[in-house]
Amino acid sequence: MTVMITGGAGFIGSHICVELMHAGRQVVIYDNFANSHPEVINRIRRITGTAPDVVKGDVRDVNTLISTLSAHGCSAVIHVAGLKSVADSVSKSAEYYDCNVVGTLRLAQAMQQTGVRNIVFSSSATVYGEPDVLPLREDHKLAPVCPYGRTKMQAEELLIDIAHSLSPLNVAMLRYFNPVGSHESGLIGEDPNGVPNNLMPYISRVAIGRLPALNVYGNDYPTPDGTGIRDYGHVVDLAAAHIAALDCVDKQRVLKVNLGTGQGTSVLELVDAFARASGKMIPVTFAPRRPGDIASYYASAELAADVLGWHAKRGIAEMCRDAWNWQRKNPNGYLDQ
Ligand code: NAD
Ligand code: UD1
Repeated sequence: MTVMITGGAGFIGSHICVELMHAGRQVVIYDNFANSHPEVINRIRRITGTAPDVVKGDVRDVNTLISTLSAHGCSAVIHVAGLKSVADSVSKSAEYYDCNVVGTLRLAQAMQQTGVRNIVFSSSATVYGEPDVLPLREDHKLAPVCPYGRTKMQAEELLIDIAHSLSPLNVAMLRYFNPVGSHESGLIGEDPNGVPNNLMPYISRVAIGRLPALNVYGNDYPTPDGTGIRDYGHVVDLAAAHIAALDCVDKQRVLKVNLGTGQGTSVLELVDAFARASGKMIPVTFAPRRPGDIASYYASAELAADVLGWHAKRGIAEMCRDAWNWQRKNPNGYLDQ
């Protein structure tokens, strides 16, 4: 039986695809390539030895979703497609609600119409907002502070309601913390358009010489070195969790689970680890805090261990090694064919 991966050509989706194919599953990638490059399909074929089936389509297009689910005999969906920039979600909020919320609704309707019952959804730790207590557990209140976070919370809510409707879906919502790194081959990885918003791709581009220095946003946080703390996780570990989630999604109607390591790492600690992994100097400049940033954010990883039997295997050194391997082999990302 085939798994459809929406957004399967993107950073996280391409890694999920590889892990599924290694596990012997049939996959069909469903992606509109709004934020990905067709070369990724060739790279997945080079890693796995098989070209995945691909449908170019939008998650808001119910007819194409229905024909894809039917034609490929899909038994489950991993719904990764979405827009993810916090800044763009403020300036183009309608587009974000349309893609992330309406797109999730249309997909759920297409699943109901084709009798595909199981969905694993890419949610985000951003749904929690400012933490009352750390580590963040799944029962922490949801109070996202930006439109992007609210689109993820609303997509979760609509999936939960549909899970309890007369035409129910089984739903596993995976709340990612900070996915980084790349497949160890260096053939697929994170390839943001323009200047990266996120820390790891920014550091990588400084190391490869495409950017002069990292701006560290704030060194006056109440953390040991004054810089922000996050829970970075290797994208290949994260991908493996999706297989575990697929295997248990029909055991309970609704599952909400963090995908994090439980370990916090500061900006300066990550810079040091990357410098060690790459052998490159990473010049830093201290800049004011970024609006909307939180001092410290990391997961409780207990539920993932209990219900998925999953825990992260790779640490910060491996994340930096693999991010650097991808960047050094593809200085211009997928344009380096
Ligand atoms: P990405 O942009 O690399 O991948 C998203 C993929 O979805 C792209 O290939 C894009 O072309 C596709 N897509 C976008 N809109 C679409 C639409 N309307 N129809 C069909 N395809 C569409 O992003 P990513 O980093 O791989 O993130 C994947 C998911 O994980 C997103 O839903 C994101 O919100 C979530 N997430 C990401 C992070 C992170 O740090 N990367 C953290 C938490 C959650
Ligand atoms: C950001 C988003 C979050 C989203 C996540 C993954 C914001 C406020 N939050 O999370 O909603 O789910 O990306 O897409 O945008 N940093 C620097 N210099 C940089 C970049 C980042 O110092 O050039 C610092 C940040 O201040 C933060 C840490 O690095 O302390 C991590 O930043 P980032 O990688 O953007 O992730 P988040 O802030 O966790």
